Amino acid sequence: MPFVLPLALLVAQVAAPPPALDDQSETCLACHADRTLAVTLPDGEVQHLYVDVEAFRKSVHGDRLGCTDCHTDMTEVPHPAKPFRTRREFTLAYYEQCKRCHFANYTKTVDSVHYAALARGDTTAPVCVDCHGSHDIVKPGQPRAAVSRTCAKCHEGVSSTYAKSVHGEALLEGGNPDVPVCTDCHRSHDIAGPREQHWRLSTPELCSSCHTNKALMAKYGISTAVLQTYLEDFHGMTASLQRDEPGTPTGAFAAVCTDCHGVHDITRVDAPNSKVMRANLVKTCQQCHTGATENFPAAWLSHYEPSWQRAPLVYGVKLFYSILIPFMMAGLVLQILLHLWRVVVNR
Ligand code: HEC
Ligand code: HEC
Ligand code: HEC
Ligand code: HEC
Ligand code: HEC
Ligand code: HEC
Ligand code: HEC
Ligand code: HEC
Ligand code: HEC
Repeated sequence: MPFVLPLALLVAQVAAPPPALDDQSETCLACHADRTLAVTLPDGEVQHLYVDVEAFRKSVHGDRLGCTDCHTDMTEVPHPAKPFRTRREFTLAYYEQCKRCHFANYTKTVDSVHYAALARGDTTAPVCVDCHGSHDIVKPGQPRAAVSRTCAKCHEGVSSTYAKSVHGEALLEGGNPDVPVCTDCHRSHDIAGPREQHWRLSTPELCSSCHTNKALMAKYGISTAVLQTYLEDFHGMTASLQRDEPGTPTGAFAAVCTDCHGVHDITRVDAPNSKVMRANLVKTCQQCHTGATENFPAAWLSHYEPSWQRAPLVYGVKLFYSILIPFMMAGLVLQILLHLWRVVVNR
C-alpha cells in the first residue's frame, strides 16, 4: 500500500493543532492572558497589557517567534522599570525590533515621506506596527482592499475621494483586482513626496503600466493608445523633455495625465462629473491656458490618432505628405541618374 503513508501524512498535517508556544512564552502568558492587566502611564493614558494569544498564533509569526524574540528586554519578572511617558513612546521604541529581522524593509522606509515626517518630530507618522499591527500581523496586502483601509486610518480625505473614483469603486464595491490601490501608485515602504517634480513627471509611466496593457484594457473596452498619443502631443513631448533636463523651472509644467483626468477622483470619461467630458473640458484646459475659449479644445486631437473620421484635415495633410515625400525623393534620384546617363552618353 504505497499510497497510504503519504495520505496519512497529509491528514496529519491538515488536522495538526496550532503550534504550541515555547515555554518562555507560556510563562509570559500566565500574566498577559489576563484581560484586566493594565498600567497607567505617567501622562495618564491607560495601557492595556492583555495579549490575544489566538490572534498571535494565527499571525505570520505565530509558529516562528516567541515573545522574547521581540521583547528582548522583558525576560526578567518583575520587569525592569521603563521610561515611557505615553503609549506612542512605547510603540516607537518597540517598532525598532522589527528591523532586526526585516532590515531590507526598514531601509526602504528610511527613504519615505513618512520617515521624514517622523524625523522632524511628527510622531503621528506611521511606523511598521501602524500599518501591520504587532501581535496580529497577517499576510500584507491581502485582500487588496485592505491596503486602502490601512492608509485610510490617517488619510481619510484622500481615501474617501478615491473610494468614489472609477478605480476605487471597482475595487471596493466590485472586488476588482485590476485597478490600482494606494500602494500601486505610491508604493508602501519608500513612499516618495508626491509633489516633487521628478515624481510628478514620471506619473504617465505609472498610469501606462496598466493603460497600455492590451489584454487588461480589452476587458473594459478602453483604448491603449492613450500613452502613445499623449507622447506625440506637445504636452507629453514637453513633459519628457523636462524630465530629461531636471533643471527646468517648476513654473513651466506641461500637462501630465493627472492634470486632465484628476488623481484620486478619476472618473469614466463620459461621467457627468468627468473633468475631460466635453462640457467640462475647457475648464480643465484653463488651469494652464488661462485665455482658452469654448472652442479651444476643438483644435486639439485629444488621444485620437488622426483619421478620415477624426480630424480629416490633419489626416489628409499627413497622408498627402506621406505620398508626396517618397514621390519627390524618387523624382530627385531619377533626375540625378538621368544627368549621369547624359554625361556618360555625351562623352
Ligand atoms: C508575573 C506576571 C508577569 C509575567 C510572568 C510577565 N509579565 Fe510582562 N508585565 C507584567 C506587569 C504587571 C506589567 C506592567 C508593569 C511593568 O511594566 O512592570 C507588565 C508589562 C509588560 C510589557 C509592557 C512594558 C511597558 O513598559 O509598559 C511588556 C511588553 C511585557 N510585560 C512583556 C512580557 C513578556 C515578553 C513576558 C515573558 C518573558 C512577560 N511580560 C512576563 C506582568 C508580567
Ligand atoms: C513580532 C514581534 C512581537 C512579538 C513576537 C510579540 N510582541 Fe508584544 N509587542 C510588540 C510590539 C511592536 C508592541 C508595541 C505595539 C503597540 O504599541 O501598538 C508590543 C506590545 C506588547 C505589550 C503591551 C501591550 C500592547 O499590546 O501594546 C505586551 C504586554 C506584549 N507586547 C506582550 C507580548 C507577549 C506576551 C508576547 C508573546 C505571546 C509578545 N508580546 C510577542 C512586538 C511583539
Ligand atoms: C526575530 C525575527 C523577526 C522579528 C523581530 C520580526 N519578524 Fe516579521 N517575520 C519573521 C519571519 C521569520 C517571517 C516569515 C517570513 C516568511 O514567511 O517569508 C516574518 C514575516 C513577516 C511578515 C509577512 C511577510 C510576508 O511576505 O508574508 C510581516 C508583514 C512581518 N513579518 C512584519 C513584522 C513586523 C511589523 C515586525 C515588528 C513588529 C516583525 N515582523 C518582527 C521574523 C521576524
Ligand atoms: C504606510 C504603511 C506601511 C508601513 C509604515 C510599513 N509597511 Fe510593510 N507593507 C505595507 C503594505 C501595504 C504591504 C503590502 C505590499 C505592498 O502593497 O507593497 C507591506 C508589505 C510588507 C512585507 C512583505 C512584503 C515585502 O515587501 O517583503 C514585509 C515583510 C513588511 N511590509 C515589513 C515592514 C516593516 C518591517 C516595516 C517597518 C520598518 C514596514 N513594513 C512598514 C505597508 C506598510
Ligand atoms: C499612522 C498614520 C498614517 C498612516 C497609516 C499612513 N500615513 Fe501617509 N502620512 C502620515 C503623516 C503624518 C504624513 C506627513 C504629512 C505631512 O507631511 O504633512 C503622511 C504623508 C503621506 C504622503 C505625502 C503627503 C504630502 O502631502 O506630501 C503620502 C503620499 C502618504 N502619506 C501616503 C500614504 C499611503 C499610501 C499609506 C498607506 C500605505 C499611508 N500614507 C499610511 C500618516 C499616515
Ligand atoms: C492612480 C494612482 C494613485 C492612486 C491609486 C492613489 N494615489 Fe495618491 N497621489 C497620486 C498622485 C499622482 C499624487 C500627486 C498629486 C499632485 O500632483 O498633486 C498623489 C497625491 C497623494 C497625497 C498628497 C496630496 C494630497 O492630495 O493630499 C496623498 C496623501 C496621497 N496621494 C495618498 C493616497 C492614498 C491614501 C491612496 C489610497 C486611498 C492613494 N493616494 C491612491 C496617485 C495615486
Ligand atoms: C490635455 C489633457 C489630457 C491629457 C494630458 C491626458 N488625457 Fe486622457 N483623455 C483626455 C480627454 C479629453 C479624453 C476623452 C476623449 C473622448 O472624448 O473620448 C481622454 C480619454 C482617456 C481615456 C479613456 C479612453 C477610452 O478608450 O475611453 C483614458 C484611459 C485616458 N484618457 C488615459 C490617459 C493617460 C494614461 C494619460 C497620460 C499618459 C492621459 N490620458 C493624458 C484628456 C487628456
Ligand atoms: C493597476 C492598473 C491601473 C493603473 C496603475 C491605472 N489604471 Fe486607470 N483603470 C484601470 C482599470 C482596470 C480601469 C477600468 C475600471 C472599470 O471600468 O471598472 C481603469 C479606468 C480608468 C479610466 C476610465 C476610462 C473609462 O472612461 O472607462 C481612466 C480615465 C483612467 N483609468 C485613468 C488612469 C490614470 C490617469 C492613471 C494614472 C494616474 C491610471 N488610470 C492608473 C487600471 C489602472
Ligand atoms: C497642467 C497645465 C496644462 C493643462 C491642464 C493643459 N495644457 Fe496645453 N499646454 C501646456 C503647456 C506648458 C504647453 C506648452 C508646450 C510647449 O511649449 O511645447 C501646452 C501647449 C498646448 C498646445 C500647443 C499650442 C500652444 O498653445 O502652445 C495646445 C493646442 C494645447 N496645449 C491644448 C490643450 C488643451 C486642449 C487642453 C485641455 C484639454 C490643455 N492643453 C490642457 C500646459 C497645459
